Amino acid sequence: MLSKLSTKYALSAVFIAGTAAGIYAQAQAPAARPQRKAPTGQGLLGQAGAADKHIVDADAAERGKKVYIQECITCHGPTARGGQGGSDLVRSLVVLKDRYGSEIGPFLKKGHQTQGSPAAQFSKEKIEDLADFLHLKVGDTLRTSPLFRAQNVLIGDAKAGEAYFKGDGKCTQCHSPEGNLKGIGAKFEPVDLQQRFLFPKPGFGRGGKPTMVTVTPPTGPAVTGTLVQIDDFNVSLRDADGEYRAWSRINGLKVKIDDPYAAHAQLLDRITDKNIHDVTAYLETLK
Ligand code: HEC
Ligand code: HEC
Repeated sequence: MLSKLSTKYALSAVFIAGTAAGIYAQAQAPAARPQRKAPTGQGLLGQAGAADKHIVDADAAERGKKVYIQECITCHGPTARGGQGGSDLVRSLVVLKDRYGSEIGPFLKKGHQTQGSPAAQFSKEKIEDLADFLHLKVGDTLRTSPLFRAQNVLIGDAKAGEAYFKGDGKCTQCHSPEGNLKGIGAKFEPVDLQQRFLFPKPGFGRGGKPTMVTVTPPTGPAVTGTLVQIDDFNVSLRDADGEYRAWSRINGLKVKIDDPYAAHAQLLDRITDKNIHDVTAYLETLK
């Protein structure tokens, strides 16, 4: 996935550089911006786990790079890893949890410092482009980490990974190496495996697990179903019979969300780089 992406990236750069007419045409009529819908459930729970992972669009990332150079690079550095007055954006939870600007947008809108134009006035497009660029940097960092050899062989400590999996990581609450993760190492390359456990994607091969919600009205019985939508005012679900039910969130209405990906979203807050590489090495041994 990542290598496919960089090929596409390189090809489009060559194409644009190689055809002056291409540049002219682009300047005259910018290509229509493809609508990329954020996955359902995104942002509602404020957790990366509820959303799909961010798929980088190479053209948007290229535009985002220009914005980054104009507005961010002096503090956050050429690789976005910080160290020049700004923090490391590749390890930033704002960036990791972001999907298509969902976290980076509100963060910048609060009036974050820039090199020129006020962040509070950034357009939606500019923010989305920046988001694509920063997600590309996250991907590059995982791929070019010194913990991978050139052939993409992982050098983590599988034993330490196993200890973390069974201990502090609490992975065995939901997974077992003989059960639902059996043979996972044979299925995926290390980089993909790492992406999968950092950002499990609803629907991975096995239909995925929907977010469930239980609503208890002040007077009625509790109703459990698949979450359709929730905001500050309303909540709706589809019950076991496929019936759509909706409530206003009045006082006394209880809402309990059971997000199967929540554990993974919380993991991002506490897992270290070393844990990540050790766990990936361990999972790779499950052939
Ligand atoms: C003048 C220096 C400077 C510039 C320019 C700058 N930043 Fe920052 N940025 C910082 C500093 C310092 C922090 C850490 C403190 C904070 O959160 O405000 C930070 C934090 C952040 C964070 C949050 C990191 C985290 O997880 O807490 C994000 C995201 C971010 N910057 C994005 C950007 C983007 C995108 C741009 C360009 C549009 C930008 N910054 C421009 C200095 C800068
Ligand atoms: C509270 C439950 C829970 C905990 C704890 C948990 N996970 Fe998961 N994990 C899930 C769910 C749910 C999925 C998504 C499964 C699906 O979509 O079919 C998942 C997906 C995964 C996947 C992707 C599987 C695939 O086939 O693509 C990996 C790998 C994984 N988890 C590893 C871990 C590791 C490592 C830990 C501990 C650090 C952990 N999980 C902790 C619930 C959990």
